[in-house]
Formats: sequence, structure tokens, C-alpha cells
Amino acid sequence: MGRPTARVDRRRRRPPSSTSFGSASNDCPAKFTAYARRVGAVPLIVATTCLLSILIQVAFRNTPHTSEEMIQKFHNDYVNARSMKQRRSLLQVRDGEQDAFDPENGVISENLWRRQLSVVRTENTLAVKRKEERMKLRADERRARFGEKHWAGRITKELSDEFGADSGRPMKRMAIIPRYTDKHHFEDCVGTTIEECQVIIDAYVQAHPEDFNNQTTLLMDIRKVRELTDESYYKVVLRTNIAGTHVYGIFDDGVVHYPWQWVVNNVPTEIGPWDCDDGGNMMSPAECCTLIQNDVTSMDDQGNFLACFVEEPVGGPNNPERQDRAIVVTDGAGKVVRAPIAH
Ligand SMILES: *[C@@H]1O[C@H](CO)[C@@H](O)[C@H](O)[C@H]1NC(C)=O
Repeated sequence: MGRPTARVDRRRRRPPSSTSFGSASNDCPAKFTAYARRVGAVPLIVATTCLLSILIQVAFRNTPHTSEEMIQKFHNDYVNARSMKQRRSLLQVRDGEQDAFDPENGVISENLWRRQLSVVRTENTLAVKRKEERMKLRADERRARFGEKHWAGRITKELSDEFGADSGRPMKRMAIIPRYTDKHHFEDCVGTTIEECQVIIDAYVQAHPEDFNNQTTLLMDIRKVRELTDESYYKVVLRTNIAGTHVYGIFDDGVVHYPWQWVVNNVPTEIGPWDCDDGGNMMSPAECCTLIQNDVTSMDDQGNFLACFVEEPVGGPNNPERQDRAIVVTDGAGKVVRAPIAH
């Protein structure tokens, strides 16, 4: 009759002794091993942890950390892309500042810096709505001009290739080279509406008056990302150095990219990229544009020749810095896609 009682007692005593290996006693490793052997799950957990750490190391080995590594990775990805479609999608995702200029209403003149500036929030919403209506009208006009079948088929294919097929909106793009690092970036605005972003900006500005000359608000200088349906689709963006004298390109290597295909007689063709680095000397915008236009000489099916748009970084003679604004880049639906920058 005494044995069952003894067994119960042993069972009751075990848990406190086996879980006390965390204390600083000397036989801790032995106790741990004994516990592990008995439980069985601990070696499994140890093995899983080792495997996971190896997997994590492998996954992060190729993750670039500096902007040079990021540029190198982009170039490798671009060169090694198995198909042109893959290359285009790389450009779409990583074309940096290239898409940041705003074609405004209709056709813009070369080197014209006309921006949409607005303080009144309701006007921003209205402007976005009006722009969408204008884009729809333009698409309708093109459809009428080129025939429903041709236009609809081509545009549908292009859009599903270039943009998320589900949303019909361009994928989120990001600048690959960290730029304007000395200026404030409103990171919290990414993914918000223009109205929400204005609130975020004003709250930050009011909380840090010393950084913003005691201003209580910043104007939102809104630019929509470039889309194939924009009127200015046929322009290649030549991003220059600050002085505006030499073409640096979006990766500062003198190479100029164009994100879409060039359609002549219903045949879409990949064009570019063009190397405007002439043996270590970056070409002037005019030289670079000549090189590009000599390469693509055909008029496309919408009646346009390939043209150039010279974009200076903020701070250049034609793109002066301003103390009273934040540059906000939105997608076609009016959502902020990059951290707005105060400059
Ligand atoms: C901002 O306001 C403070 C306090 O009123 C003042 O001392 C400072 O000179 C102002 N700065 C500017 C740039 O106006």
C-alpha cells in the first residue's frame, strides 16, 4: 500500500527540481541534459533554431546595405533578368526619381518647371479628381483615334504587364539612391491620402518650429508618378547633376532608362537604356538627347517622336529649393507613395 504513495511523491517532487536548472548551481549543464533527454523537445528546438539562423543568414547575405551595393544589385538584377518583361518590372519598381515630374495639363514644354501648389486641402482632392477625369478623356480620345480594338488590347496588356493587374495602379516605387539626406523626410505619410499627409506634416512642423523657421504649415507640392497613360509618356527623363550641365541618370552613372515600350505599327519594342557617359565624361542634356533620338527615330502609333525632358535635382538653377513646401509624390489614386521631402 506504501508504494503508490511513494510514486506520487516522486512525481510531485520532480517538477521543482527539474525546472531549477536556471539557477546558478554548478550541476546546471547536467540537469539541463537530463531534462532535455527526458523531454525530447529541447534538442528539437535547438536544431530548429540553428537551421533558422542559417536560413536567415543565407536570406540576408545578398541584401544590399549601402547605396553602392543597392545600385550594384540593381545592375546585376537588370543585366541578369531572364526576360525583357522582368527588366521592365525592375525599372518600374526602382526607377527612383524618374517618375517624379508632373506633366500637369496636356503637353508640357521642355524644361518647364510648372508645379501644382496648393494649401487648401479640398482643392487637392478636387485637383486629383479633375486630373483623373482629364486622363479618362484623353484615353477616350486616343481610343477614338486609334480604334477600340487596337487601343484597348494594347493598353490592357501594357497595364497588366507594367502595373499590378488587380488594382490597375502602378506598383509602389522607391528611390534606390538615398537622396536629399540632409532634408526632412515625412516617412509617416507613405500610404496615406494627401489630406492625412498634410495633417502629419503640419503636426511635425509645429512640433519642431526651429527646423522650419517657425512656420506652422508647409505647402504640399504634389506630383503624380508617371504612367504610360500620361500625355508626356513619350519623353525620356534626363536627370542631371545639380548644375544641370551633365546627365547623371537615376543611378548617377550616366545611364538613361525609359520604363515603357515604343510601339510602331503595332509592334512594341524595348528601347534603351542609353549610356550617356562618354568615356568617363557625362554628356550634356543636348548631347545625350541627340544620342537617344538618333537611336529611336520612328514616330510611334500615337504620332509622337521620342523626346527628352531635362530634370534637375532640387537645388538646381531651374529647380530651386524652397523653405515653405514639401514635395509629395502620389500615385494616380492620390495615395502618397514616397516619403515627402521638405525642400
Ligand atoms: C522663432 O520663434 C522664437 C520664439 O518666438 C524666436 O526666438 C526665433 O527668433 C524665431 N525664429 C525665426 C527664424 O523666426
